[in-house]
Amino acid sequence: MLEDLLQSSTSVLLLGVIFGLLIFHVLFTSSSSKERREPPGPKPLPLLGNLLQVDLKRLDKSLFDLSKRHGPVFTVYFGLKKVVVLAGYRTVKQALVNHAEEFGNREITPIFYDFTKGHGILFSNGDSWKEMRRFALSTLKDFGMGKRISEGKIIEECHYLIKEFEQHEGNTFKNSQSIIYAASNIIAAIMFGKRFDYNDPVFQAMVERDNESIRLTGSASILIYNIVPWLGPCLKNWRDLMKNMEDNKVEMKRIITNLKETFNPETCRCFVDAFLIHKQKLEESEIKDSHYHDDNLLYSVSNLFAAGTETTGNTLQWCLLYMAKYPHIQDQVLAELDRVVGSRQVRLEDRKNLPYTDAVIHESQRLGNILPIGPPLTVSRDVTFQGYFIKEGTTVFPLLTSVLYDESEWEDPLTFNPSHFLDDEGQFIRRDAFMPFSAGRRVCLGESLARMEIFLFFTSLLQHFRFTPPPGVSEDELDLTPVVGFTLSPLPHELCAVRRQ
Ligand code: HEM
Repeated sequence: MLEDLLQSSTSVLLLGVIFGLLIFHVLFTSSSSKERREPPGPKPLPLLGNLLQVDLKRLDKSLFDLSKRHGPVFTVYFGLKKVVVLAGYRTVKQALVNHAEEFGNREITPIFYDFTKGHGILFSNGDSWKEMRRFALSTLKDFGMGKRISEGKIIEECHYLIKEFEQHEGNTFKNSQSIIYAASNIIAAIMFGKRFDYNDPVFQAMVERDNESIRLTGSASILIYNIVPWLGPCLKNWRDLMKNMEDNKVEMKRIITNLKETFNPETCRCFVDAFLIHKQKLEESEIKDSHYHDDNLLYSVSNLFAAGTETTGNTLQWCLLYMAKYPHIQDQVLAELDRVVGSRQVRLEDRKNLPYTDAVIHESQRLGNILPIGPPLTVSRDVTFQGYFIKEGTTVFPLLTSVLYDESEWEDPLTFNPSHFLDDEGQFIRRDAFMPFSAGRRVCLGESLARMEIFLFFTSLLQHFRFTPPPGVSEDELDLTPVVGFTLSPLPHELCAVRRQ
């Protein structure tokens, strides 16, 4: 009897709460939209928002579809969390470049806060971010980003990678690991002044943990965690991510400690040394509370190492997969390389004489679309954008998929077509909507290093090898479906690297 009573009063209470939330939701959304015109969007359900209308497993695609119905600036609700999505080249550029100040703050989601506690470069804001970003950019330049020193380092690494591929003697193998290690070694050389052997188990584990973390960060359960953070400990992906982060932090700290022990301010060996020298100078001039503390060192190094490894490695994997998939395009790259470079070492200055190859690289980056949604931003102050009011602090998703596949910018957005980057005379043309590195205040800090790496690795590999599907597998059978995480990477696959010279 008492149990019945309790049960019925609980049901009434529950109904009351749901009814109350419904009224609150209707009142809240209608009163705010009466005052100012906010970006339109699909009608949200109470509590769930639009969670049932989007595919969390391929969020960029479903947001792109929604943009076709609701326009280039629209609102979606992930539960109660409101997000404004920017879609299409014109809109993304207008926001990130023409309104760089308003659309230039990183959103520190719960998972990003777990990663770096607001320090470092990727997931930080304000003066600390500004100083760390400025320092990282100038130090990367000092270490040759965009210059000959890095070119030499990358060429040296190309030789290791070629040797690694040669060991398979044209037989089928998975190239993903060694490509990622090669990319990682470039950033490691700058950060720590050393390269790692591809067989070094500590290095392998560090790179593997970063890769897995990037995949897990884009998973549906981490999206849910960002909406309902107290669920974290119940989610396996969150627990795995925390463990990966912790393990990599221990490893980074160990490398930094070793460098500190052998530190000599007279000889700057790497990024870590440059940071310590700068820190020492500030201390000597008695500047207090500077941003040059251990947390910023640890997290800036971790950010650069992670951001500089998977992205570049992943792009190279797409490049080679497209070559195996489209042999007639590969043939034209090989012919151009043979004609212009021959068997000597390819160099950065060759790029201007390799328009077709350059177009193929750009097209691989465009269609590969490895970062489909730029890391979320928040609006730094109230802004009226394209006639819509967006309140300070609102989360913004720059939908890079919608830029790289924008139908009004690309003749054939869903097809691998190097002509997107060639004029009628076969000369390379820049396209404004080529924006895989995003744009504006938070534009990728490693863009010029990444572009050097991709060009030199790709051309050096193709000078030495032709890439084909495994025996018995046709080009048509090569699957271009991506693995979806925070980035889009090719499905695990095998190719043959058949020696050319
Ligand atoms: C193909 C390779 C790469 C691609 C496609 C790529 C793409 C991107 C994108 C889309 C962003 C987000 C920009 C935004 O928030 O609007 C970004 C940020 C960033 N990238 Fe890259 N990236 C690549 C390689 C690299 C490399 C090699 C490094 C390191 C040297 C690097 C370091 C960073 C850092 C530190 C940020 C954060 C910038 C900030 O928040 O201020 N990236 N990248």
